[in-house]
Amino acid sequence: MNQDDMKKAVAEAALERIESGWVVGVGTGSTANYFIDALAGLKGKIDGAVASSNASAERLRGHGIEVLDLNSAGPLPIYVDGADEATRHLHLTKGGGGALTREKIVAAASKTFVCVIDSTKEAAYLGGYPLPVEVIPMARSHVARELAKLGGNPELRDGLYTDNGNVILDVHNLRIMNPVELESEIDHIAGVVTNGLFARRPADIMLIGSDTGVEEVTAG
Ligand code: A5P
Repeated sequence: MNQDDMKKAVAEAALERIESGWVVGVGTGSTANYFIDALAGLKGKIDGAVASSNASAERLRGHGIEVLDLNSAGPLPIYVDGADEATRHLHLTKGGGGALTREKIVAAASKTFVCVIDSTKEAAYLGGYPLPVEVIPMARSHVARELAKLGGNPELRDGLYTDNGNVILDVHNLRIMNPVELESEIDHIAGVVTNGLFARRPADIMLIGSDTGVEEVTAG
């Protein structure tokens, strides 16, 4: 199985958790895209979807799935999304696609967060993948200096503006041994909108695709 086959397999495994009449929270990225494509087969049975990005909203609409506003549709029973790096504690780094803030909002407003990854994303601890931090543009340099004090090397993601009109600093060379604490610490820097650590609200279920099939990891 190549990486794309693994992504497709976990997306299809996540589909089995969707029940009739639900509004489904939908993530962003290539694995989430496989999930959206699979969800199209259930469009007569679900009540719509809430998207974590404009790109996912567009793909959902392309399949004829109604995209709803979280303010009226939430709280949601389920949120399905990928990750850039994940541990077996269900802590994640997300935001490689730049959608981290909306992803964190939809995850927070969902009862069950199902994270779908291929086995290349698994790590013993986070930090191998640069940590995305969404920042209000005028605070870019200040936030970069504060992130450097935490031991990271922040790099502006060139030319990218998020769906919220902000910029992203990707923080390299962090060895993240306490993701819950670091997530809070970074969020408290003035000018930070959010960061890509999903540890205070981790995934509830992780589906990992590998050559041997789909493995389910749950908390505890
Ligand atoms: C989007 O902002 C990210 O959080 C994605 O969930 C993450 O980058 C995973 O993307 P892939 O499924 O494309 O690997």
